[in-house]
Parts: sequence; C-alpha cells; structure tokens
Amino acid sequence: KKIILFASGSGSNAENIIRYFQDKKTAETVAVFSNNPNAQVLDKAQKLGVPGYVFTKEELNSGKVLEQVLAVNPDLIVLAGFLWKFPTDIVAKYPNKIINIHPALLPKYGGKGMYGMNVHRAILENKESHSGISIHYVNENYDEGAMIFQAEVAVDVCVTPEEIALKVQELEHLHFPQIIDKLLQS
Ligand code: GRF
Repeated sequence: KKIILFASGSGSNAENIIRYFQDKKTAETVAVFSNNPNAQVLDKAQKLGVPGYVFTKEELNSGKVLEQVLAVNPDLIVLAGFLWKFPTDIVAKYPNKIINIHPALLPKYGGKGMYGMNVHRAILENKESHSGISIHYVNENYDEGAMIFQAEVAVDVCVTPEEIALKVQELEHLHFPQIIDKLLQS
C-alpha cells in the first residue's frame, strides 16, 4: 500500500509516520508533497529516503499536483500539518482516501485560522480543561469531513500554549500511524 504525505512545516508527524511504516512494512510512504521549499519536513523525509515534491499554489490549483498524485496512485493521502486548503480536484478523485489530523477536539477549535499555536492559545484563553486530536476525512470544507478518531488529554495543568502543544503532539505521534495502518487494512 502506498501513502503520500502533504506537509508544510516541521514534519514531526511525517517523520513518525515514515519511520512507523519503514519498520512495520504494511505500507510505504512514497512521497512527501510540500508547498514550502524550506519546510523541515523535506529534510526529514530525504534523510529517511523519501522523495519530496515542492509545488506552488498555482501548480496545486491548476491540476499539476493532481497529475503527480495520479502518477503515484496512492492508497491513502495523509495531510500532516498541511496549511493550504486542499484542492477539490484531488478530493474528487480520492473520495474517502484523504485524511487530516487536527490538533484539537473538532468541531471545537476548527476552521479558518485555527491551526498550530493559534489553536493552543485559544484553548488556554478559554481555560479548557481538555484538548486532544481529531483525525478526519478531508472534504471541500476546512475541518468538516467525517470523523475517524479522536483522543483527548487534560490540559488544565498547562500554563503556556507550548505545553499544550507538547501534550497534543504526544497523542498525535501515538495514534496517527496506527489509525493510518488500520484504514489501509480495512
Ligand atoms: C500538528 O499539530 C497537526 O495536528 C497540525 O499541524 C501540526 C503539524 O506538526 N495540523 P508537525 O509538522 O507534524 O510537527
């Protein structure tokens, strides 16, 4: 089974997923697609032997990225910290085969502008006792596809957004590869 990752940032999830499947061999991460040529995820992938493809917004929205994805013909497309809206042409070609991870318990703290530290800051400001992760299918709207898996963690002891981020990241690293594995086997 073939996985394509889309990521824009540091790539700790991407690295974790690549390693998990290199070890388990139930699937292979065949490429990392990124909109950001300077994203650390590209170095991490390269060190693990996974090729990176960088694209512009124009290439994403003109069908060029879709062409490259079709050439790979993945079984699953995984968004791991991908910050641009995902194009509808790829969504249409891969129904129920594109998933995203969101660092909060959707439907709360989702939608435009709610990514990365913005999410954790909002959680802290609102004095939420819990946060967590949401793994969901990707459709045309931000963070609105069908839910696959959620896990929660207490954050009432946290006094900075960074502390919340760490707790959430731990959950992501623990669960995301396993959920991907399960989806690929079902
Ligand atoms: C994660 O928190 C993920 O939930 C969010 O972006 C972050 C990516 O982190 N969508 P990393 O690049 O995998 O370290």
